[in-house]
Amino acid sequence: MAIQKVMVIGAGQMGSGIAQVCAQAGYDVILNDIKQEFWDRGIGVITKNLSRDVEKGRKTEAEKEAVLNRISKSLDLRDAVDVDLVIEAATENMDIKQSIFKELDAIAPQHAILATNTSSLPITEIAAVTERPEQVIGMHFMNPVPVMKLVEVIRGLATTDEVYKEIEQMTIQLEKTPVEVNDFPGFISNRILLPMINEAIYALYEGVATKEAIDDVMKLGMNHPMGPLTLADFIGLDTCLYIMEILHDGLGDSKYRPCPLLRKYVAAGWLGRKSGRGFYVYE
Ligand code: CAA
Repeated sequence: MAIQKVMVIGAGQMGSGIAQVCAQAGYDVILNDIKQEFWDRGIGVITKNLSRDVEKGRKTEAEKEAVLNRISKSLDLRDAVDVDLVIEAATENMDIKQSIFKELDAIAPQHAILATNTSSLPITEIAAVTERPEQVIGMHFMNPVPVMKLVEVIRGLATTDEVYKEIEQMTIQLEKTPVEVNDFPGFISNRILLPMINEAIYALYEGVATKEAIDDVMKLGMNHPMGPLTLADFIGLDTCLYIMEILHDGLGDSKYRPCPLLRKYVAAGWLGRKSGRGFYVYE
């Protein structure tokens, strides 16, 4: 059965972006969060993004309204009763995700696919709490979702080829490029990106160069759009530390040990852009 109706769980930065690209591609979207204020914030971000598209001539006002009209509000997981796909983008915490998936498994129709946007938690472990592990899959979008072309599509141990193909096809409908990845810590994106960021933090910690110099080397020398320390601030230093811990625990190799300076910044509450200070200060 073709996917038509999608529930996105979590109206934060990732969830609102996912809801936007799904609605732009013509899907009916239910955007779910636990609180009205989180939902309001999410739909506010989507409206702002669409208004910028209108200003830049990429969409008409009517197209913007049509996209917004395809997104409905939900504050209750029971609204997943008639969806074909759920994409969960809630907090990165295994207990929270497992409890959501357990509940969804009892609510969503039998044919529905349950996807998670987790950046590094094992898909197989999330799938294991459901009665349909063959229909559980990872859809890892990149931030900012409306701009970035990649979706890592992660097969859990039990994910069927049929489910994989359906999600691959849907990703193409979203005008993104799907990349097939198996379920190992950090998948591919964060297994490569985070050790690079962690190494940049070690270089700063050891006094090899200033933060500006480290960022310039990677920006101007390797054509990265952001230097690794700027990117770490953009992702959130708490998230960076969390992913490094997952790589370290899951792969058991000391090469993934988080840099002590990263730990210190997180302990200080210097979490990057979202807290106003990370490696750089944000007004
Ligand atoms: N939402 C929607 N659109 C956005 C946006 C956002 N949050 N941020 C920027 N854009 C759009 C802008 O509107 C602009 O589009 P137009 O020029 O057509 O209007 C375009 O993106 C470029 O933006 P800017 O000119 O403001 O700035 P920029 O050229 O520096 O681009 C960037 C911004 C796209 C974020 C770019 O710096 C970039 O690609 N940075 C790297 C991002 C990255 O690596 N993301 C992956 C993070 S890791 C991750 O997500 C996985 C994980 O699990 C941790």
